[in-house]
Amino acid sequence: MRVFSGIQPTGKLHIGNYLGAIKQWIELQEKNECVFCIVDLHALTVPYDPKTLQELILEKVIVYLASGINPEKSIIFVQSSVKEHSELAWLLNTITPLGDLARMTQYKEKSKKFEKNLNAGLLNYPILMAADILLYQTDLVPVGEDQKQHVELARTIARKFNQKFGEVFKIPEVRLPKAGARIMSLQNPAKKMSKTDGPESYIGLFDEPEEIRTKIMRAVTDTGKIVKYNEKLKPGIANLITIYSLFSGKSIKEIERKFKGKGYAEFKKSLAELLVDSLESFRRKKKELLTREVYVKEILSQGTKRAQVIAQSTMQEVRKKMGLLPH
Ligand code: TYM
Repeated sequence: MRVFSGIQPTGKLHIGNYLGAIKQWIELQEKNECVFCIVDLHALTVPYDPKTLQELILEKVIVYLASGINPEKSIIFVQSSVKEHSELAWLLNTITPLGDLARMTQYKEKSKKFEKNLNAGLLNYPILMAADILLYQTDLVPVGEDQKQHVELARTIARKFNQKFGEVFKIPEVRLPKAGARIMSLQNPAKKMSKTDGPESYIGLFDEPEEIRTKIMRAVTDTGKIVKYNEKLKPGIANLITIYSLFSGKSIKEIERKFKGKGYAEFKKSLAELLVDSLESFRRKKKELLTREVYVKEILSQGTKRAQVIAQSTMQEVRKKMGLLPH
């Protein structure tokens, strides 16, 4: 099966991105043809600093490698280096109803947050995402819960294109992890963990041990002191138990048993140490890769070439079906 997924380069990656997306990618790359993208064009839709963007893009390649993506198995590349993404996004613009875009949850949230910079890119964002996915004749899109609606729209757009112009696109399936599809903020368990909400609300994949300890000890928990999973009544502790379970491989029941009669503080201390240990190899590999820029750039250039072959072949078909002249 062909797998496609992507992450924006701006901001720090956190354990939500890892548990929702990257952890699935690592499993999927063993048996599938995987394409993993750094979606720099998407990142331009909200305020950013052009001076640091290049550095952030390269850093994300390092993140992919440090978290276990194998460049010999999977394609790693940067969205803007394969120009077919923008080209297909334009063409798909012409068949996507405005109403479908305006009802997207992420658009509604972001248009409130960035009221002063309400650019057309923010509205058209899911069309570019559909282009990303459809260009590669993708079977499976592993993402966290917040991106599910966008993948569903990509399916709708693909069906519409196929009906109007003839079969070109595969209809992709979304794949959410069984647990961890929506990791919540450490400061507000009613909100998803997000890189735009301040460092105390998330654990970065490369946070130093002291930062991890401080953030976990300060994580907002519920009244009471029993370590028991209850999403409705104890969302703060439930979120921390989920994180504990996914990093330790222990079931929720096992964790509840382990901390029976022990209270929140002891549970949090143990979770902090689990995270310090689990993220150690990310920190070590990242430090090593930061000194190997030539190697990292070579991986990108190989990935770009492999991605271009697939993207160009789909675009040829699209042009033909839409009545445009071939290139
Ligand atoms: P982005 O960069 O916001 O997030 C990257 C991935 O992390 C997941 N994620 C989470 N999972 C669980 N809990 C959380 N708190 C959490 N926060 C983020 C996201 O669901 C995502 O899988 N539009 C996309 C990038 C994109 C893309 C694509 C993805 C562009 N084109 C094509 C798949 C296919 C985005 O902004 O993700």
